[in-house]
Amino acid sequence: MTPEEFRTQGKALVDWIADYWETIEERPVLSQVEPGWVRSQLPEHPPEQGEPFEAMLADVDRAIMPGITHWQHPGFHAYFNSGGSAPSVLGDLLSSGLGVQGMLWATSPAATELETLVLDWLAELLSLPAAFRSDSTGGGVIQDSASSATLVALLAARERAGDDSNAHGVRQGESGLVVYASEHAHSSIEKAVRIAGFGTDFLRSIPTDQEHRMRPDALAEAMAADAAAGLVPTIVVASVGTTSTTAIDPVRAIAEVAAEHDAWVHVDAALAGTAALVPEHRWIHDGLELVDSYVVNPHKWMLTTFDASAFWVADRAPLIGALSVLPEYLRNAASESGAVIDYRDWQIPLGRRFRALKLWFVIRSFGAEGLRDMVRRHLDLTDRFDGWVRGSDSYMITAPTTVNLVCFRHVGGEGESRRVMEAVNAGGEAYLNHTVVGGEFMVRVSIGGERTEQRHIDRLCQLLDELA
Ligand SMILES: Cc1ncc(COP(=O)(O)O)c(C=O)c1O
Repeated sequence: MTPEEFRTQGKALVDWIADYWETIEERPVLSQVEPGWVRSQLPEHPPEQGEPFEAMLADVDRAIMPGITHWQHPGFHAYFNSGGSAPSVLGDLLSSGLGVQGMLWATSPAATELETLVLDWLAELLSLPAAFRSDSTGGGVIQDSASSATLVALLAARERAGDDSNAHGVRQGESGLVVYASEHAHSSIEKAVRIAGFGTDFLRSIPTDQEHRMRPDALAEAMAADAAAGLVPTIVVASVGTTSTTAIDPVRAIAEVAAEHDAWVHVDAALAGTAALVPEHRWIHDGLELVDSYVVNPHKWMLTTFDASAFWVADRAPLIGALSVLPEYLRNAASESGAVIDYRDWQIPLGRRFRALKLWFVIRSFGAEGLRDMVRRHLDLTDRFDGWVRGSDSYMITAPTTVNLVCFRHVGGEGESRRVMEAVNAGGEAYLNHTVVGGEFMVRVSIGGERTEQRHIDRLCQLLDELA
């Protein structure tokens, strides 16, 4: 493809995407295809000769689009929403066009310096503690996912605990390092525990209270028991917004317990952290100045297309200590001067995309005010839906609504709740999913789509009424 052809086809593709966004509401939110259908529409073998771009775009319409679940649809309320605003898509396009690999400051100074700036901006917008700023002991980095952020937090905590398994390998149970998280923490914590070699026998699942928040007294008990048994309480992962119900763990009380054992505290605020853009919701971060690391996903609720997970540490030394390996071919004068950040030392892979561009475009396009408006609009819509459920004779709220997720069920129980949820999903206007907490089946309605307006929430209420 010549630059001239790229110009033509690129414009056609941008038009295609703009048309898609304009007409997205006409499509069923949830893909309706059967397993294997998409593959059955495509040739079994790769083409011998190159094909024109028009043919590919036609196949996108014919064979790919039926297999798409429309995450940017205003009726998408399953899981957590996924950002996809136009400025973020353009930022990603520019990143691809530049084709920059920003592993070292020297491999593209702008990629590193813009990332540092944008994460300082974001720290300011979320009112994060001063230690997370790049001019302090810590700093921020964009990871591909909250799962990766949690994994590197575990590795940094292990480094700070003085464990020597980086040198000697992990032998079964020998290090005695223990990880703590609430029983409702995201599955990525267990995955990180496995990958980092802590071993799931050394992951403590801490009981929660009536509102599904980690109980600091139970954490204190578990940590004390482990310490008494000669183990090393190493890291506590607090959830600010659990995946099932967005329960907010009490970070301050958790950090105070952890401090007694000099354990690292990592806060997983993948979805809910975005709520702290508005001052009236900053209570979710109470105690954050006592923690060691924190992650929020702009690719969830902050209008940024996947992937962009913002991760901060209060002290960058253990993180870099855990992850820095310096072969000769990466040596360069800038790194050796100590005056630059090399983000390869802050993450698992060596290579890294120029993700800061899309976040920069988002923050500049919407402005702080636009981002706050978006959060307030979603919180208001959530309140509206929560209020509707509370006023209904057929449905009941099943968990406290803390940010932009409502959990509810049919008063008739699981069977009725499933029937209603499946009927809504089959209808194509909205997509809901479910969870089970403490044995109770709940339908989840996440409200964080850029295009979701009051009329969509009112229509959902109407549908639920009709199906009751
Ligand atoms: C609380 C929480 N943590 C972590 C994750 C995983 O996020 P990622 O896909 O960025 O790894 C999720 C995903 O929904 C989540 O809700």
